[in-house]
Amino acid sequence: MGTRHKGLRPLAAALVLGCVAMATPALAQSDDMADPTVEVMAGACTFCHGTDGNGIGAAIPSITGLPSDQFIYMMETYQDDSNPSTVMGRIARGYSESQIEDLAVYFGDKPFERPAQPWIDETMIAEGKELAAEYCESCHENEGRDGEGVGILAGQKLQYMRFSVDDFLSGAREMERRQARKFRDLMEDHGDEGFEKILNYYASVK
Ligand code: HEC
Ligand code: HEC
Repeated sequence: MGTRHKGLRPLAAALVLGCVAMATPALAQSDDMADPTVEVMAGACTFCHGTDGNGIGAAIPSITGLPSDQFIYMMETYQDDSNPSTVMGRIARGYSESQIEDLAVYFGDKPFERPAQPWIDETMIAEGKELAAEYCESCHENEGRDGEGVGILAGQKLQYMRFSVDDFLSGAREMERRQARKFRDLMEDHGDEGFEKILNYYASVK
């Protein structure tokens, strides 16, 4: 069950690794400077995450508008690999705790961007919304726009959310017990198709 999109991941990884090669001079430069400003640090992120922190392509998530706690938690779990990643582990380890706090405020102050996602399957949205209400909305409140410590699903990139779900299902990324139960119930009742409908719905939320 955790293997649905495995074939795509190496490709996405190769694409973003190309991106890392491009981003490296900016990262190295910020290392040399005694006290890089947050704008300089953020510049290294926008190679992939876009100028407003909303990522290029379907696999790179939007990172604006997150509560600081969640942003910091994501960076720390990338640093220690408890949240598996293609590139963020290596990137996150290049920043200190206080630099990450500055980045969290910098990106958190910007509104969460919801760019058009032409790859969304519109025919899945209505059913996805109903399934989300039953299996996800108790934690991903207000149509996935907020909720305590859960990140943002509303308008988040579809392929990124698929990778995240795969990581949860395979056990590579930890889930709390209540979330795991909902995932198991959804898989039993509606299979991969159920997840696909829900993620297309969340990606479509404006
Ligand atoms: C080479 C491209 C690239 C660069 C540069 C990059 N990121 Fe990422 N970022 C990603 C990808 C891809 C993911 C998804 C996890 C993974 O596979 O690494 C991600 C995920 C994230 C997430 C998780 C968002 C969420 O809501 O789940 C945060 C936060 C983040 N990046 C912050 C940053 C910051 C801050 C910087 C700059 C210091 C940065 N990223 C630089 C590609 C990049
Ligand atoms: C019991 C609460 C709970 C339920 C129910 C729940 N989630 Fe979550 N979800 C979380 C938490 C907590 C996180 C953040 C985990 C982390 O930061 O590692 C999360 C994170 C996510 C993420 C990753 C977001 C990111 O930015 O990386 C996705 C995708 C996701 N959930 C999808 C779903 C879907 C789809 C459902 C319904 C089938 C669902 N969740 C139901 C608690 C829940």
